[in-house]
Amino acid sequence: MRKLAIILAVLLPLPALADGGRRVQVISDPLTAKECSACHMAFQPEFLPARSWKKLMEPKELSNHFGDDATLPEAARARIEAYLMQNAAGVAPGKESGRVAASIGAGETPLRITETGRWQQKHRPGEVNPAAFKSPKVKSKANCVACHKGAAQGFYEDEEDERKGGFWRR
Ligand code: HEC
Ligand code: HEC
Repeated sequence: MRKLAIILAVLLPLPALADGGRRVQVISDPLTAKECSACHMAFQPEFLPARSWKKLMEPKELSNHFGDDATLPEAARARIEAYLMQNAAGVAPGKESGRVAASIGAGETPLRITETGRWQQKHRPGEVNPAAFKSPKVKSKANCVACHKGAAQGFYEDEEDERKGGFWRR
């Protein structure tokens, strides 16, 4: 009986530990992880709905992707598009996925994560000093890793330490 209790005590916390604080799923498709991290961190698909990824991944859009040419060979383009859509907001499991989806109107197709209601609500003035996004350390709202050190690994709650250091203090 005591043995069982010990075994349980050891086993039970594991799922919690394995996921400790992880907010969004890590990108599991190596092609997406590679191709979409050439210029910025590869953004996790659950930050945008499937219709947004579909639009972003159109060949015409990719050829003028926020001013850059992010054109891909068709086979790679199609595979990445499918991966992003299959793991999009409202499709992927988890709280963040659902919250992002709920924050976007049915008629909206945002091409930026930073334009979604969920992102704006979490980074509103009072939560994050708007000047922080323009600071030399950050430069862009899309530079998630500047503030979320663990962003690429799916962690978005580790901003506390940095916030104490305070370059974006409210
Ligand atoms: C050739 C460089 C390059 C590549 C490759 C690239 N991007 Fe981008 N991406 C950019 C630039 C530049 C921006 C604008 C960044 C900014 O506003 O600070 C951007 C912004 C974005 C944004 C909007 C971020 C926001 O919320 O403001 C998304 C989403 C995005 N990229 C997805 C992708 C995906 C998916 C891929 C892979 C298919 C990809 N990118 C590959 C250069 C690139
Ligand atoms: C200037 C710093 C900064 C940048 C850049 C930034 N964030 Fe944040 N983010 C914060 C802070 C500070 C919070 C905490 C706000 C709060 O307490 O709710 C936060 C909160 C979040 C949360 C919610 C976590 C929670 O508290 O539940 C998510 C998800 C998130 N950010 C994603 C992103 C993504 C994705 C990007 C890039 C597209 C990004 N952030 C860029 C500072 C930043």
